[in-house]
Amino acid sequence: MPKVSTKPLFEKAYGKGYAVGAFNVNNMEIIQGIVEAAEEEKAPLILQISKGARKYARHEYLMKLIDAALEISDLPIAIHLDHGDSFELCKSCIDGGFTSVMIDGSHLPFEENIALVKKVVDYAHPRGIPVEAELGRLAGIEEHVSVSDRDAIYTNPKEAKEFVERSGCDSLAVAIGTSHGAYKFKSEPKLDFERLKQIEEALPGFPLVLHGASTVLPEFVELCNKYGGQLPGAKGVPEEMIKQAVQGAVCKVNIDTDLRLAMTASIRKEFAENPANFDPRHYLGPARQALKDMVKHKLHVLNVAGKV
Ligand code: G3H
Ligand code: 13P
Ligand code: ZN
Repeated sequence: MPKVSTKPLFEKAYGKGYAVGAFNVNNMEIIQGIVEAAEEEKAPLILQISKGARKYARHEYLMKLIDAALEISDLPIAIHLDHGDSFELCKSCIDGGFTSVMIDGSHLPFEENIALVKKVVDYAHPRGIPVEAELGRLAGIEEHVSVSDRDAIYTNPKEAKEFVERSGCDSLAVAIGTSHGAYKFKSEPKLDFERLKQIEEALPGFPLVLHGASTVLPEFVELCNKYGGQLPGAKGVPEEMIKQAVQGAVCKVNIDTDLRLAMTASIRKEFAENPANFDPRHYLGPARQALKDMVKHKLHVLNVAGKV
């Protein structure tokens, strides 16, 4: 099946109680594990590539690997730039065959964020490419943080409406308490679902995106800890919260850390149990399988299994 843009995927998903998984890819085994999982679960898919992934593997290699997946599979797959940090990077990805881009101006003042997103939108839209933007800062916030501090960090629903109208973006990443990496919360995980509801009401029909949505699955943390390095206090977003978040306007959920942990746990275990193993196929193969099993599970958490 030819690659698709995120637009039809979001149109189909909006308000249907599921979100499309957007998984970060960096090499062949990761792409294969994710695509095989999505195929077996009949789930539409977003493969996303960060600036770092592009630097690590090179644009050409990643695109050819995804082309191979598209040739082999019947799945609708979107190729998305994750956290684009400049107009030039977005342009290069659009020119180079991506079907969707994110321009992340969330660190900029409101007006500068709008101006940057608008510049990317003006280049992307005539070429049929949708643009994801971000408003608010991703951070797990402790209970004692004041309401005004919380407002300064999380996405403000009124601002979100103005931001979308003026920037012309096609989807919006919102900050409601999720954050990137394996250490999302110092104490109890908590998402601001009331704020999410207000953003949804301010932007009816508009697709939202949840970044930093890995669960940091305990089974992989335990394996990583057992077989080598320590991940003390690693804590992610409980799956029950992800299930709740995808009930409404959240159409895309970003997952990278859980992929990294699944692969790393498998490789650490393999080397601990078979120190004489020096054939990359014999440790990358099981790691690909562990990642695939984890993604299949995730597709059910997102309720996207069977939605092709
Ligand atoms: O949110 C960021 C993603 O996990 C990508 O990470 O920039 O290290 O590739 P990266
Ligand atoms: P995690 O670190 O929670 O996997 O988030 C990934 C992400 O948001 C990629 O953009
Ligand atoms: Zn992100």
